[in-house]
Amino acid sequence: MATVAVIGLGGMGSRMAGRLLDAGHDLVVWNRTPQRAGELVARGAVAAGSPAEAARWANLVITMLSGPAALQEVVEGPQGIAAGATDSTTLAEMSTVGPPAVRRLAAMLPDGVGLLDAPVLGSVTEAESGSLRIFVGGPEELAQRWMPLFGALGSPMHVGPLGAGAAAKLVANSTLFGVLAVLGEALALADGLGLPRDIAFNVLSGTPVGAQADRRRPAIESDDFPLRFALSLAHKDADLVVAAAESANVEMPVAAAARQWVVAAQEAGLGDRDYSAVLAHITGTARAG
Ligand SMILES: NC(=O)c1ccc[n+]([C@@H]2O[C@H](COP(=O)([O-])OP(=O)(O)OC[C@H]3O[C@@H](n4cnc5c(N)ncnc54)[C@H](OP(=O)(O)O)[C@@H]3O)[C@@H](O)[C@H]2O)c1
Repeated sequence: MATVAVIGLGGMGSRMAGRLLDAGHDLVVWNRTPQRAGELVARGAVAAGSPAEAARWANLVITMLSGPAALQEVVEGPQGIAAGATDSTTLAEMSTVGPPAVRRLAAMLPDGVGLLDAPVLGSVTEAESGSLRIFVGGPEELAQRWMPLFGALGSPMHVGPLGAGAAAKLVANSTLFGVLAVLGEALALADGLGLPRDIAFNVLSGTPVGAQADRRRPAIESDDFPLRFALSLAHKDADLVVAAAESANVEMPVAAAARQWVVAAQEAGLGDRDYSAVLAHITGTARAG
């Protein structure tokens, strides 16, 4: 069994760390807000004093942080991962940060440190049950070495060289915002044309967004969107998708428009709610904060 460090114990990282403990690995944890490590430490994890210390102790370091800025701080700070990693360390970057952040990460790590980008699809429920989809980018041999360990977290898929995992994750997430925007606008149109909501949901049930309409209906009807993926993080992802399209010279006017809904929902004070509350913003039924 490996010694694994998990850096970033938010909604996702804490659950992934719990899975690794359950699988029998020695676990080292570090979180900016140390109190969040308490439950894992009570279950047998060791709390490191800094990301550098966590990296010194571990064979595999997993980062699960809010985004590129957090990753930069945790890696490049004076007590950061780069200060503690050696040529026997592998870093698996599992947050959603986009390909440029992965390139920067590669440049900041000491020579010889193994690096994989391995972001995940699925949310807190899938993190808890070990059923995430994991898009692994990096050298074949290094990816294969860690596949069994990733198996404790979900289904890993090697998608190409370093950066391919981050690219795959943006492709996946580019669909999320568009689908919610289309659903929200269809409901707003139904309201505008005077169709009762239950009729609108029944109509939408038979369309290409039917599965989403059925899944989101209880939350929309109650304006209660249980927090799984914060809208502020969705905003970050929508920015990453649009920036990636621009840098690749790919036209994505629909993604840009869907991003605008997420931006508007955040400006309306919904940043701390689940990202699906964008639906209530589009239909004009959201309560603030
Ligand atoms: N939630 C989902 O459904 C989901 C699904 C797939 C992928 N993701 C991605 O997974 C990542 C984590 O998501 P999450 O839902 O777990 O987010 P979260 O609950 O908001 O946790 C964010 C983590 O980042 C840390 N952090 C933020 N800024 C930092 C900084 N400047 N320095 C050090 N640490 C910092 C936080 O530390 P503190 O505790 O100190 O704030 C916390 O540990 C994100 O990249 C997200 O896009 C999320």
